[in-house]
Amino acid sequence: MKIDILTLFPESFAPFKESIISRAQKAGTIEINIINIRDFSRDKHKKCDDYPFGGGAGMLMSVQPIFDAVKSVLKEGSKVVFPTPVGKLYNNKTAQKLAEFSHLIFICGHYEGIDERLVELFDAEEISIGDYVLTGGEIPTMAIVDSLLRFVPGVLKEGSLNEESFSNGLLEYPQYTRPQIFEGLEVPQVLISGNHAEIAKWRKAASLEKTKKNRPDLLKGEKIED
Ligand code: ADE
Repeated sequence: MKIDILTLFPESFAPFKESIISRAQKAGTIEINIINIRDFSRDKHKKCDDYPFGGGAGMLMSVQPIFDAVKSVLKEGSKVVFPTPVGKLYNNKTAQKLAEFSHLIFICGHYEGIDERLVELFDAEEISIGDYVLTGGEIPTMAIVDSLLRFVPGVLKEGSLNEESFSNGLLEYPQYTRPQIFEGLEVPQVLISGNHAEIAKWRKAASLEKTKKNRPDLLKGEKIED
């Protein structure tokens, strides 16, 4: 899987030099390129913003630098993704679908956004990570890339995806580590019983309880499988 990220702020992607994503890049499982949109500006001052037709507060990103930047990496089978608050709401299902592409191109918007014709020209997938507005597309791009890469074979250890939140329509059960008593609170006895059937039963019930408390919307109309 190859991912090209087009941004005016390449330094924002420093977190990709850490941990699992960094290891997957070094192992050659994934390749992530950060491309500075400004390098494609044909303006003599490398300007990358412009006024919106029809007026309104704020500027848009200029069309030409983004168009040329996308063209420089686009090939047959590439999928262009544009994180935006007006996109379709992102979830694990979308992450899994995106993980099946061999090449993704992310456009990080800034200012008031990008010219709509770019979405049309590249048939870009518009994705929102939630009902709130961030100051730019870098953080949503990082969230989307991080979450989809977990579904690319070889990035995580085998089995890591099996019991995590959303994998079975529920949130994950609570976890505990040492010490057995911390600040007067004890680890549930069943977890130190060594009885795997009882542990599995407890986890299922705890998972349901957590989902009821924090995400009752996930339970609506859903039949929970044993
Ligand atoms: N850009 C700004 N806000 C966003 C959001 N909520 N989702 C995706 N991209 C965005």
